Amino acid sequence: MLDQSNVIIDVHVHTQDPEAIKEEIRDGLLSTPKKFPTKYFYDDWGSTLFEQICELPEYYQTRTEHQLLEAVADDIVAKTGADELVELGSGAATKTRVLLDAMARAKQLRFYVPFDVSEGIVRRVAQELVEEYEGLLVHGVVGDFLAHLEHIPDGGRRLVVILGGTIGNLELEASQVFLSSIYDEMDQGDFFLLGVQLITDVDRLEAAYNDSAGITAAFNKNMLRVLQSVIGAEFDQDAFQHVARFNHDKHRIEMHLRSIRDQVIPIPELDLNLHLHEGEEILTEISTKYTRHQVEALLTGAGFSPVEWYSDSNHLHGLALAKKR
Ligand code: SAH
Ligand code: TRP
Repeated sequence: MLDQSNVIIDVHVHTQDPEAIKEEIRDGLLSTPKKFPTKYFYDDWGSTLFEQICELPEYYQTRTEHQLLEAVADDIVAKTGADELVELGSGAATKTRVLLDAMARAKQLRFYVPFDVSEGIVRRVAQELVEEYEGLLVHGVVGDFLAHLEHIPDGGRRLVVILGGTIGNLELEASQVFLSSIYDEMDQGDFFLLGVQLITDVDRLEAAYNDSAGITAAFNKNMLRVLQSVIGAEFDQDAFQHVARFNHDKHRIEMHLRSIRDQVIPIPELDLNLHLHEGEEILTEISTKYTRHQVEALLTGAGFSPVEWYSDSNHLHGLALAKKR
């Protein structure tokens, strides 16, 4: 039976100033190299493609984090005593269920707050979870976690989580600012769990973003379609190629859309004509890989006290548990 009273969804994305959106996209296209804001991957179709990425044989990250969580979730729940889970970039919340199950086993599951830019997936997950977990209250927030953190509802003993290596999709400086703003939103005694991808061999890393089924390429190009709806630019998807490679200096995968020919794309809403020459790349995503030391430096830099470090036996993924003292 559905009990709608257990679900609240707040939507903040539509309140974003259209001028600010245009300016953000415009700034990216005027910078060198050109880039697009990452969040435009995730309309409903983008979220669906991302779910397919998570199942790819080459994309080892999701499986690895899932197994790691299964091994350590009870310990995390015991150490934190949390009765509320707040998840930033919650997506399909598949791995989240491992944590929710552990909280339920400890009889301390009360409240879940999925926070994501993708409205469809927040609504779907909220509905699924109140059906799966009896008595659970879900308060979803549809928003930009770089802008709308203050809309996280006040809560109980909170565990805030970011899984999937999403933190690595931010530039180093932005990730530090983001973690500090999360810290500021939290109450003393709350815990934070950060899932990160660890540095490993380049072949494995590059294969994960160049799958043979072409799903990651489709996900990358989907951004052109999303941008068409946001700023009215008419991109020809066939005029672009998906490119992903490891940048050793910054220990991160960089994903691009490469123009396969010289082209000019008029974007009247931004008041510019986008000139691309053959082979020119637009940066669409970065995915940083870390060492344990780098992760703990980020956390302490934001004010957190590290509590525990979990990793799989191959050291592909890390989960850092920290506390706001
Ligand atoms: N946590 C899931 C999904 C990771 S993909 C997992 O581990 O599999 C990253 C998620 O963050 C997507 O669901 C995307 O919609 C969301 N996201 C990306 N940028 C965001 C932003 N600026 N604000 C809120 N959510 C964002
Ligand atoms: N954060 C994950 C990663 O960097 C998921 C992700 C974000 C991703 N953008 C992506 C995966 C683009 C593949 C392609 O791996």
